[in-house]
Amino acid sequence: MDTIRTIDDMQAASAALKRSGRRVALVPTMGALHDGHVALIRQARTQGAAVVVSIYVNPTQFGPHEDFREYPRDMEADSQACGREQVDALFAPSDAEMYPDGPGPLAAPTWVEETVLSRRFEGERRPEHFRGVCTVVAKLFNIVQPDLAVFGQKDYQQLKVVTRMVRDLVYPVQIVAVPTVREPDGLAMSSRNQRLVGTERVQATGLWKALSVARDLFNEGEQNAHRLEAAMQRTVGLAPAARLDYAQVVDGETLEPVAKVQPGNIALIAVHVGRVRLIDNLIL
Ligand code: PAJ
Repeated sequence: MDTIRTIDDMQAASAALKRSGRRVALVPTMGALHDGHVALIRQARTQGAAVVVSIYVNPTQFGPHEDFREYPRDMEADSQACGREQVDALFAPSDAEMYPDGPGPLAAPTWVEETVLSRRFEGERRPEHFRGVCTVVAKLFNIVQPDLAVFGQKDYQQLKVVTRMVRDLVYPVQIVAVPTVREPDGLAMSSRNQRLVGTERVQATGLWKALSVARDLFNEGEQNAHRLEAAMQRTVGLAPAARLDYAQVVDGETLEPVAKVQPGNIALIAVHVGRVRLIDNLIL
C-alpha cells in the first residue's frame, strides 16, 4: 500500500487507478482508526472500488478552545490497519500541503460553507466546525477525485451537511452512509473515547443508555418528543461525570426539532464526560 503525502502525487495516483478502469472510493478520516473506520473501509470495498483512506486532523474544523492538540494521532498503527484492510492508497498530507497559507482565519481564503443544516446542534456549539469540515472535504474531493465517498451515521449531522454540499455544488460523488459501530456495551466507537480516564469510560455509556430509553419509550407508543427528551436528560443525569449538552428528537432530513415523533426521526445527543465531548444518535 502506498502512503501518499502530496496533492500532486494523490491526483496522479487517482488518475492512474481510473485509467486502469477502477472506480475510486474515498474514506475521509482524522486517523486513530477504530472498527467504525474499518466498517467504512469494508463498505467502500464491497462497492467494488479502489479504496483511498485519507488521514488528516483538520485544524479548521476545531474551535480555538477545542481538542485539536489532544486529538489522538497514531500514524504507525493507522498505516498497519490500512494495510490489513488492503487499502489501495493512504493519503496523509501535511498541514503545509493542505493549508499553504498557514493556520488561523486565513488558512483557507476560500471557504465552503453549508448554512442551513449546519445551523443547529454541532454547528451552534462549534460555530466554524462545519465550515472547516465542508472545506476540507471539498478539497479532498478535488484531490482524490472519488466516484464515491463513505461517511458514518455516527456523525449524523456531518453526513447530512456533506450530502447537501455535494448536491448544492454538484460534486460528481456518490455519498454512501454506514451505520454506527458500537462497543459491546453500546458506546459508539470514537477516536475521542481514548481520552476518557478512569470511570469516565463506564459513564460514557450514558449516551447509549439515553438513546435506548428514548427508543424503548417510542416503541411503547410514546410520541411526545418532550417526554423522550426529558427521559434522555434524566438518564444522562445518572452519571456524575456527565454533563448534557443537548438531547433532542429531530426530523431525519431537515434536522428540525419535532413535537410529535414519527418513525425515521432521529434522537441526537451530545454529552461532556469529564473533559471529553461525545456525540451519538439513533434512528427511531
Ligand atoms: P473522523 O471522526 O475520523 O471520522 C471519519 C469517518 O468515520 C466519519 O464519516 C465518521 O462518521 C465515521 N465514524 C466515526 N466513528 C464511527 C463509528 N463508530 N461507526 C461508524 N462510522 C464512524 O468525521 C471526521 O473524522 C472528519 O470530520 C472528516 C470527515 C474526516 C473531515 O475532516
